[in-house]
Amino acid sequence: MVETPKGTICMAPNVYWVGVKHHNRRLFDGLIPLPHGTSYNAYLVVGSDKTALIDTVNPGFAEDLLGRIAEHMDPAKLDYVIMNHAEPDHADAGRYVLDVAKNAKLVTSAKGKDAAIMYFGIDSERIIVVDESSKLELGGKTLKFIDAPWLHWPETIFTYLEEDKILFPCDFFGSHVAYGQFYADELGEGVSLDLAKLYFAEIMMPFRKPGQTAVEKVKKLGVKMIAPSHGVIWNDPKIILDAYTDWTGEKMKKKVLIPYVSMWGSTEKMVNALAGSLINKGIEVQLFDLTNADIGHVAKELIDSPVVVVGTPTVLNGMHPVAAYAAMLVKQLRSPTKYAALLTSHGWSGGAVKAVQDLLGGTKIEILGVVDVKGPPKEAEFEKIKELADKIEEKLSAL
Ligand code: FEO
Repeated sequence: MVETPKGTICMAPNVYWVGVKHHNRRLFDGLIPLPHGTSYNAYLVVGSDKTALIDTVNPGFAEDLLGRIAEHMDPAKLDYVIMNHAEPDHADAGRYVLDVAKNAKLVTSAKGKDAAIMYFGIDSERIIVVDESSKLELGGKTLKFIDAPWLHWPETIFTYLEEDKILFPCDFFGSHVAYGQFYADELGEGVSLDLAKLYFAEIMMPFRKPGQTAVEKVKKLGVKMIAPSHGVIWNDPKIILDAYTDWTGEKMKKKVLIPYVSMWGSTEKMVNALAGSLINKGIEVQLFDLTNADIGHVAKELIDSPVVVVGTPTVLNGMHPVAAYAAMLVKQLRSPTKYAALLTSHGWSGGAVKAVQDLLGGTKIEILGVVDVKGPPKEAEFEKIKELADKIEEKLSAL
């Protein structure tokens, strides 16, 4: 495991980043590509009476975390370990910190307490349960808590440092990136937002409603800094709050997402014909060849694309497995997609159409059309594709 040699940073008087950057991690949850690695941001707040560690780090990095804390205080003297979220990339090292800090208490939500006992074997006597009425007074530093269920686990809370107006929302507002410095403006606003959008699509998109509630709560706080537990720290919170307002609010663009796979070029010809017609109408098209696309980037385009057109050949009486995977992601990520269409080709037997209909069953997505061709597409199919483009234009104009 590799981490940056750079040490801790001071974010405000007696408030420190003490996390770890994991440059060479390339996959998360066995699913999410991490082309830029990630970081596990943990934060140390030193009051005049008490000290608190907010979130910890991924399995395998506890020693790095303890070393970072030791730059500021004896880790054995920590008073509180705040567990905003029980997923091991932020919570696993908590048990090692509690082993070192014999008198420290773990602070979490009621559901977090159950998770801490179940996943990490924490003694229930060492857990303090907090809710929105709770306060931890550290001496000149006051920590408050915000319920944030389903962002993205049921036990999640945010921690707010009142005097410095710093919000610690764990995964929410996060991004997977290890390179660069610590703050969003150091990495560049555009790059930071792009990475945050990718992260939102992969992790938070299924939870847009609780996300909206959380964004509204945060807006009322008047925060000066948002310090998530992955990626950059937002030193201008308005940038990420505005973005999350759009993403959780399903602010759509006049855009069509076309993920496709083609074996012998027939599907690709149809996809290109549709893309050309749409572009001629002034409609933005995002085209992804699924054989070499980062699936996270496909998910990112789902945030604000009202129309998704899947292109797939028929393989063994069904969709091409790569296209089936993309269609399944659309369903599982509960994207705000309103309309879908299918472009497909087969040699001797169909089957892809039914497979897509089965996969999208149970969603509110309206199927706008299917163009299914035997062999390569001919004039008749290209005419149908033009008609599909007209229908898509009509639906987008009505949004
Ligand atoms: Fe970064 Fe849900 O853990």
